[in-house]
Amino acid sequence: MDGYIDVPVAPKPQGACRTDSIKLYGPDAFEGMRRVGALTARCLDGVSDLICAGTALSRINAFVLDFAATHEAIPATLGYEGYEYACCTSVNHVVCHGFPNEKKLREGDIVNVDVTLIHDGWYGDSSRMYVVGKPKRAAERLIQIAHEAMMQGIRVVRPGARLGDIGHAIQTYAHAERCSVVRDFCGHGIGQVFHDSPNILNFGKAGTGPVLKQGMIFTVEPMVNLGGVGVKTLPDNWTVVTRDRSLSAQFEHSIGVTSDGFEIFTLSPTGLHAPGVELPPVSGELNSVM
Ligand code: MF3
Ligand code: CO
Ligand code: CO
Repeated sequence: MDGYIDVPVAPKPQGACRTDSIKLYGPDAFEGMRRVGALTARCLDGVSDLICAGTALSRINAFVLDFAATHEAIPATLGYEGYEYACCTSVNHVVCHGFPNEKKLREGDIVNVDVTLIHDGWYGDSSRMYVVGKPKRAAERLIQIAHEAMMQGIRVVRPGARLGDIGHAIQTYAHAERCSVVRDFCGHGIGQVFHDSPNILNFGKAGTGPVLKQGMIFTVEPMVNLGGVGVKTLPDNWTVVTRDRSLSAQFEHSIGVTSDGFEIFTLSPTGLHAPGVELPPVSGELNSVM
């Protein structure tokens, strides 16, 4: 069997399927989402150590495969609509769905890594931006804006708010920062299926759309461009790039609507899920110089 890998195929929990109506989940589901969300965050934390000039994107894919295998999880993208990788790696002007292939990271690159793990039947979907070495000022700013755009969308989530409030908050913030918001992709319901209803648009009108209710579970994942809003899909049928080749950035969390607001399932206890965290010095090293 040399040269072959056994591609694990995700078993669907019985009865789990995409529906047009928006599912409402109880405490057990929230517990399942907490577990897979924390696992997905830990996987993305681990990716940080691989980000340096000369690393091939395929190393990130191998890490995610290995992480999933050692944590009783399955990467949801493997075999998803013909996609052949354990994650997406989108570098610089790549908006989303970039292949983790043999292409190498270079100094100054920015890269989104998007991982969806399935654990105990629940799907945890999250993505973050990473920078190789020292980012250019414009790239750093874009990353901050993309993260804050996602957080502005998340912060309006509470029972009684409308779906359109999320997109409105994202769009209003990003436009005030003179960035554009990609309209061709959106967040989605999640739980025991990868992409469920509702679509979580990254633009919209406040006060419109379905009313948010306690127990809804979905992703918020805006893609923000430094330049124009136009994107196109490359002939590989997956890789999406900005038409003007301007930089693009994205963050994604899986969240749930609680009795009085929201819960983010894919936070990292390290704080690494957000841009601009300085890692504390390793205590062992400190001790050794004393
Ligand atoms: N993880 C992506 C999302 O946020 C979906 C990737 S589908 C793939 O929904 F097939 F491109 F991997
Ligand atoms: Co998603
Ligand atoms: Co994702």
